Amino acid sequence: MADLGESRADYRAKTVATLCSKGGVGKSTLAAQIISDASRLGLKVLGIDLDPNGTLSRLTGTVAPVGELSIGDVLVGAARPQQVARVPVDWQPDIAFDRPWIQGGPLLPGGAVHILPAPDRGLEVTTSRSGTDAEQALLEALAVSEIGEHYDLIVVDPPASTSSTLYLALYASEHLVFPLQTESAALSGLTLTVESAIKFSSLSRRRVNGIGVVATMLDRTTEHTLTLAAAQEWMDERFKGQIGVLNPQIPRRTIVSEAGSSMVPVSRLVTGKLKNADIASRYAAVALAVVAAVTPERLEAIFDAIEKEDLPEEIADIIYAALESRAETVNTGQEN
Ligand SMILES: Nc1ncnc2c1ncn2[C@@H]1O[C@H](COP(=O)(O)OP(=O)(O)OP(=O)(O)O)[C@@H](O)[C@H]1O
Ligand SMILES: [Mg+2]
Repeated sequence: MADLGESRADYRAKTVATLCSKGGVGKSTLAAQIISDASRLGLKVLGIDLDPNGTLSRLTGTVAPVGELSIGDVLVGAARPQQVARVPVDWQPDIAFDRPWIQGGPLLPGGAVHILPAPDRGLEVTTSRSGTDAEQALLEALAVSEIGEHYDLIVVDPPASTSSTLYLALYASEHLVFPLQTESAALSGLTLTVESAIKFSSLSRRRVNGIGVVATMLDRTTEHTLTLAAAQEWMDERFKGQIGVLNPQIPRRTIVSEAGSSMVPVSRLVTGKLKNADIASRYAAVALAVVAAVTPERLEAIFDAIEKEDLPEEIADIIYAALESRAETVNTGQEN
C-alpha cells in the first residue's frame, strides 16, 4: 500500500460516523441532518453512503442510477471520489437564503453539501478485496485523491453492522456519534458498538473520539425514559462521566419521516414562527456538538452569528445545550 503520509491522518480527523451495530435506530436520518445543519453553519460537507441499502443517498435524492459511478467504484479503486460526488440541489444551504436559520436558511455563508452515493442496485463494499486493505479502502481513496482537502467535514453513514463495514467506517472516522433508539434491546446495540470502537482503537492504535450518544426517536413512555437512564448510567460507568448522552435529545416526530420522503432536510419543513422549530433546533444543536469536536476554531464565529439571530428563548436554550455537550467530548483511544 502506498505511503499516504500526513494527509491520511488529516482526513480522518475531519470525519464523523453515525455508528450503531443495530438496525433502524436513526443513523442515516441523523447523518443527513448533521450534513445539512453543518452546511448551514458555513461548512463544506461531504456525506458518504456506505450502506448497501443506500438510505443516505435516498434521503438526499442522490442514488447513482444503474450504470453510473457510485461509492462502490471508489471502494474498489475503479473511480476517484471526485468523479462520483453528487450535488443534491435541495440540500444546498444557499437555496434557502431568504429563510431564517432555524427555518432552513444558512447561518453563515460558504456551506455546501456533496454526497458519495450508493448505487441503485446494492453495494458490495468489499468486492475483490479482503482484510485490512478492504477495511482501509475508504480512507485510502480519500487520501490518494486528496478530495478531503475540499471539505471541512466528512460524514460517513455506515450500515448496521459489526463486521468489515464497521471497520471501514472506523478506519475512516476519528469522531463517532452513537445513535440510540430508546427502546428495549437498543442498549445492547449501543454497548456493542462502543466496545467495538474501543477495541478498534487499541488494536489499530488510531485515535477514536466519542462525541456522545444521541437519543434519536425519544417519546415520553416509561420504556424510553428507563432506556435513556440505563444508557446514561452505562456510559457514566464506562467513561467516568466524560462521554455521555448528548443534550438535547431528538424526539420522535412525523416531520422527520415527512422530510425523509420529500428528500429535504427537516429544517426546510419548518413553517410559522415556532411550529416544528423545536426539532429542527435539536438537530442543529447536535450538529453544533459535531462541529465543536471536529473544527472548534469555527465556534466563535458561529456563536457570534447565533446571537444576531435573536432566537426565541426556548430555541436558544436548546441550541446552547450543545455547549455543555462539548464539555463531555473526550478521547476513547490513544493518539497515533
Ligand atoms: N426523530 C424521528 N422521528 C420519527 N421518525 C424517525 C426519527 N428518526 C428516524 N426516524 C425514522 O426511523 C426510520 C429509521 O431511520 P434510519 O433509516 O435513519 O435508521 P438507520 O439506523 O439508518 O437504519 P438502518 O439500520 O437500516 O441503516 C426511518 O423511517 C426514519 O424516517
Ligand atoms: Mg441507515
